[in-house]
Amino acid sequence: MLTDGYGRAVRYLRLSVTDACNFACAYCSPDRSARCAPGQECTAGELVQIAGALVRLGISGVRVTGGEPLLRPDILDIVSALRALDPRLDLSLTTNGFRLARLAQRLKEAGLGRVNISLDSLDPSAFKRLAGVEGLESVREGVAAALAAGLDPVKLNMVVVQGLNDAEIPAFASLTEDFPLHVRFIELMPMGSAAQALGPSRRVPLEAMMALAGPLEAVPQGDKPNGFGPAAVYRRPGAVGTLGFIAAVSGRFCETCNRVRVTSRGMLLSCLAAPEGHDLLPLLRAGANGAALEEAIRQAVAQKPSGHAFGGCSGARVGAGLGMCGIGG
Ligand code: 5AD
Ligand code: SF4
Repeated sequence: MLTDGYGRAVRYLRLSVTDACNFACAYCSPDRSARCAPGQECTAGELVQIAGALVRLGISGVRVTGGEPLLRPDILDIVSALRALDPRLDLSLTTNGFRLARLAQRLKEAGLGRVNISLDSLDPSAFKRLAGVEGLESVREGVAAALAAGLDPVKLNMVVVQGLNDAEIPAFASLTEDFPLHVRFIELMPMGSAAQALGPSRRVPLEAMMALAGPLEAVPQGDKPNGFGPAAVYRRPGAVGTLGFIAAVSGRFCETCNRVRVTSRGMLLSCLAAPEGHDLLPLLRAGANGAALEEAIRQAVAQKPSGHAFGGCSGARVGAGLGMCGIGG
């Protein structure tokens, strides 16, 4: 079991497999100059070695993220190698959905369990304003393909931005009445320059999101869709899907944090607020064995900070200065 200096058990890895993205979301908009040079990015084998060490240390869930993970040409190999680490691993993936239609079935066959699709608008022109590209139709096809492939649960992540998509909260909530979709409404976090440029007034607080999504009833613990995240889960009466609310900024769930992140450059981040990451790739490339890798991970986790302070500190420093695109949410 992997525990930090505050007694919190680490059970969940967010593994970024690339910092490249084919979208440029209004709140993320990846800094193209900060991208990995080719040799800086981990190979599939290196990513799986790092994940393997974490699995041996006792983590039970891995989420593959990016950037946009489906841009990696070897994504199916990565997923099947992660699945081979442990048949019981809770293996999930977060994608913008653009390339999902043609990959959903093969991802499922490679051993993926479930998927989160980032979708911020159901209106083509608002989608373009938010995502920076015309892609709503492709993403809708991706959502349908994920359901058809039997990925379960299929969650939709909506980052709510006041004045851009908050009026669509009721439409997203209605989707769950007819489809087994699990919508997650996420508070805008001040991560990186794009989100900071939008400003704190664009963040829609939890209570306002819930009022727009209602009527709501609480979902009992046992009926919640699988996940490691901090969402408060509700449903509309009679709905097949659920509605979750993630108070990414106003909720202080650091006390129960169970996660670490690894970037596509092989940098372990024990916390969004960690001032710097722990570079695992040089170790691997110097031929470190599994035990040495596990020891480096233990040491990094022992130094996990107690939590973030988005309210006070500069969000630009969050995630060792990497943007959301470098660490995958
Ligand atoms: N605030 C909240 N969520 C964000 N994401 C990216 N940037 C931000 C931000 N500033 C989300 C994406 C996706 C996940 C990878 O992180 O929408 O769902
Ligand atoms: Fe790409 Fe996700 Fe950032 Fe949007 S939020 S630009 S989909 S990495």
